[in-house]
Amino acid sequence: MSSVLSSTAGCEAATVADPAKAVEAYLTQYVAERALPTNLREAVRYALLGGGKRLRPTLAIRSCEAVGGDGTAAMAPAAAIELIHCFSLVHDDLPAMDDDDLRRGRPTLHRHTNDAMAILAGDAMMGLAFELITSRLGHTELAARITHELATATNDMIAGQVYDTLGGVDPAAEPIEKLQTIHRHKTGALICCCGRMGAICGGADDEQLNAITQYAEAVGLMFQIVDDLLDVTQTTEQLGKAANKDADHGKLTYPGLLGVERSREEVARLQGHAHQVLTPLGDHADKLHELCDYLAVRQK
Ligand code: IPE
Ligand code: IPE
Ligand code: MG
Ligand code: MG
Ligand code: MG
Repeated sequence: MSSVLSSTAGCEAATVADPAKAVEAYLTQYVAERALPTNLREAVRYALLGGGKRLRPTLAIRSCEAVGGDGTAAMAPAAAIELIHCFSLVHDDLPAMDDDDLRRGRPTLHRHTNDAMAILAGDAMMGLAFELITSRLGHTELAARITHELATATNDMIAGQVYDTLGGVDPAAEPIEKLQTIHRHKTGALICCCGRMGAICGGADDEQLNAITQYAEAVGLMFQIVDDLLDVTQTTEQLGKAANKDADHGKLTYPGLLGVERSREEVARLQGHAHQVLTPLGDHADKLHELCDYLAVRQK
């Protein structure tokens, strides 16, 4: 795993040393404590705890710190959005969706168990995410705000999966606009939500929240362009999921529409923009600058 996700260099007291590890421990305990049928618990554990870069929780925690908050204040939303992300992956892999057999270097959940369990475990992870928010943040204004952010982003992600899988994007839009609509919804929405929830938990003022939102919007689109590029440039072994799937499935992607070189230029443009919009946050945003650079060059 990249040092960006686990770096402790230059940490201040309020910095979570290793967000990926911390959220993994938090989720392990949460799923162990919650009463669930044994087979459902095992399915959730399989999908949730078997690898994954934990980029979304890392972004939430680093955004909290970037506005001057203590990163642990964002732990519940960070864990909750990883539950939503894992639910989205389990459903994304189903035969009715992308029909994939491999995820995070192992059989997808429906291959490991069966379709019914994968559908239900995905449903359960969505419920668990919101239960986690309300049980950890209580009946507070903060809980209501975070719940709204997470619910909205989850529904935008689902809309994006509909656009990607079933269509429904404005037919009059230019192909590049259609592509951006798909990517901003299916992937960008949850990533933007990570930044916003982290900043809100860190007590951001309007200017800080605006800077983090612009950063996370840019990084969110960039993330899916990089995912599209990795699909055509990496091997299945390297990715831990099937490579060269998108063209076969007729997906609208950046390299498919613009080619690899122009897609890379777009990644660089978004990367530059993400750095620029963080200016008002000064040194506090160092970890977000590092995370952006890592996300632009990641190899899996
Ligand atoms: C994969 O996300 C799905 C997309 C939105 C492109 P990640 O690349 O973050 O997957 P994990 O969590 O590390 O497995
Ligand atoms: C997945 O996009 C987006 C969501 C899961 C919401 P992809 O279908 O491109 O993700 P991978 O490549 O299977 O990880
Ligand atoms: Mg998909
Ligand atoms: Mg997929
Ligand atoms: Mg993909």
